[in-house]
Amino acid sequence: RKDLLDIASLHREEIELLLDQSTSFKEQFTTRSVNKVPALEGKSVLMLFYEDSTRTHSSFEVAAKRLSADVTNFDIAHSSITKGESVRETVETLQAMRTDYIVVRHGRAGLPGLIARQTTAAVINAGDGAHEHPTQALLDAFTIKEKFPDPTGKKVLIVGDILHSRVARSTSTLLQKLGVEVAYLGPGSLVPKHGPATIRRFTDYQAALAWSPDVVYLLRVQMERQDVQFFPSLREYHRLYGITNDRLAEIRQRGLYIMHPGPVNRGVELCDAVMDYERSLITNQVENGIVIRMAVLDWLTPGGEAPRAEPTFGRS
Ligand code: CP
Repeated sequence: RKDLLDIASLHREEIELLLDQSTSFKEQFTTRSVNKVPALEGKSVLMLFYEDSTRTHSSFEVAAKRLSADVTNFDIAHSSITKGESVRETVETLQAMRTDYIVVRHGRAGLPGLIARQTTAAVINAGDGAHEHPTQALLDAFTIKEKFPDPTGKKVLIVGDILHSRVARSTSTLLQKLGVEVAYLGPGSLVPKHGPATIRRFTDYQAALAWSPDVVYLLRVQMERQDVQFFPSLREYHRLYGITNDRLAEIRQRGLYIMHPGPVNRGVELCDAVMDYERSLITNQVENGIVIRMAVLDWLTPGGEAPRAEPTFGRS
């Protein structure tokens, strides 16, 4: 496989392979304190982030360096993109520099796929609009499997703005491939009615908790993607769907795990006390992001397929 663009097209065997390889990397780098392996020696990784990122960007960089690759951070703010250069021109220029991997985040759904068709480099989708965030889904599944080695039949409740969330799309698709039951909870305007019939939909918090989830997965409220007329106030959102101190007490009593992809809006999705909750897996998710991204880089084969059809790029 040359690229990782989505979860939908991944086979179960490929997912298992990536999760197993991540376990192996975690064992080497955590238990045996290995600092570096030569897997990607002589290879170059280009980080092309048109949208801001802390976790994905830094963990890809750490992952690539642990595999001995050279990393170039493309500085969008000081590039010719500010002079109107298109994504196509940018990628053609970077292709001429013979990069082996391009890790791309962009606000436009499908853009990593267009880049992948233009270049022999392995392209990894680091989040494209409200479409997909495949490495987030993989690290989420890995984190859940650390707690539930056989996650079949376990229940994950995804809470919040499902409609605009690439994390909800990728993570729910992947968890279902692993036999996990998934439900959505959020305001009616932000929980899409279309999509897999296998996913339960709730708009009421207590009804969703009565479904008996094992994991409550909170999504970041993405104000940058909201049509404000359909969104309750942040205070109202916290009251209806946030993990308040009272709800945390019930979650603790039920022994549920809490996850969040970050960045967290404290006081909106969750109260401060969640960060100290003994079953919060939020830090585990960040830590596991490194080994998942190592496994993905190690797995892909740059130059594995020739560029296909001429893509149609819009202006960036
Ligand atoms: N979860 C996630 O994608 O975080 P960043 O935006 O910080 O990369």
